[in-house]
Amino acid sequence: MTRWPQLEQFLRTDPRDVGCEQATAVLHVYVDLVLAGEQPDLELPGLPEHLRACGPCNDDFEGLLAAARDGRLGDAAPPPPIEIHTGPRDELRHLFEEAEDSPEQLAAYIDDGVVLVASGEGGAIGHLQLVDGEIKNMAVVPSRRGEGIGRRLIEAAIDLARSDGRSVLAVATAAADIGNLRFYQRVGFRMRSVERDAFTPATGYPPDLVSDGIPLRDRVWLELDL
Ligand SMILES: CC(C)(COP(=O)(O)OP(=O)(O)OC[C@H]1O[C@@H](n2cnc3c(N)ncnc32)[C@H](O)[C@@H]1OP(=O)(O)O)[C@@H](O)C(=O)NCCC(=O)NCCS
Repeated sequence: MTRWPQLEQFLRTDPRDVGCEQATAVLHVYVDLVLAGEQPDLELPGLPEHLRACGPCNDDFEGLLAAARDGRLGDAAPPPPIEIHTGPRDELRHLFEEAEDSPEQLAAYIDDGVVLVASGEGGAIGHLQLVDGEIKNMAVVPSRRGEGIGRRLIEAAIDLARSDGRSVLAVATAAADIGNLRFYQRVGFRMRSVERDAFTPATGYPPDLVSDGIPLRDRVWLELDL
């Protein structure tokens, strides 16, 4: 055994190695077989030996496999369309409630402004309510979070606010909600101010609310320059 694994690999070239050209030609088939849980080594003899011996081809294989696993290849579903909601707001109440703990507050603003909706097969899968340059309420159904739908709703809101001649988009969220603070900053918002004791029974919120283990008390205002 030498101290250089690559030299060792070269000296012990496997006679079954098919070579780069042949490996590249069938790499996508090999990836499909791996993903289908079949036995690619039996179907494509010589290819595993080549991937073990050839770093660049193995990198291609790993990259192709990762892309296929997270749906970046051709059969990935198209992003859900985003449109202005024209029906009754009550149709979207379940989404509004994902982002609002106070029934009183929700009743006071649910019919305000414009609502953008992302639609999936079963209907609305995400929404964003824009009221006078403020994102008043937004949510994505739990089963579709983390796919970029929230980011696309924000992008659509930016376009809408710009076309209304606004120069700033504002949003408020709980200081305790670390996930939301991350989400809004990842899409470009910056902190503007903190409003203490915004979420209390006096303002219509249940007592002792907690988010991420932090008592839900203060509201953070964020802004994005358009
Ligand atoms: C906030 C919410 C709308 C985000 O929608 P989403 O479709 O899941 O967001 P995206 O997939 O577009 O995420 C965009 C970025 O924000 C991040 N992000 C989104 N939600 C996050 C969370 N809860 N915690 C940490 N990061 C989060 C994503 O990881 C992504 O960052 P990345 O580019 O580094 O991967 C969604 O989590 C939700 O409906 N939450 C419950 C309702 C709510 O609290 N609404 C906000 C009221 S102010």
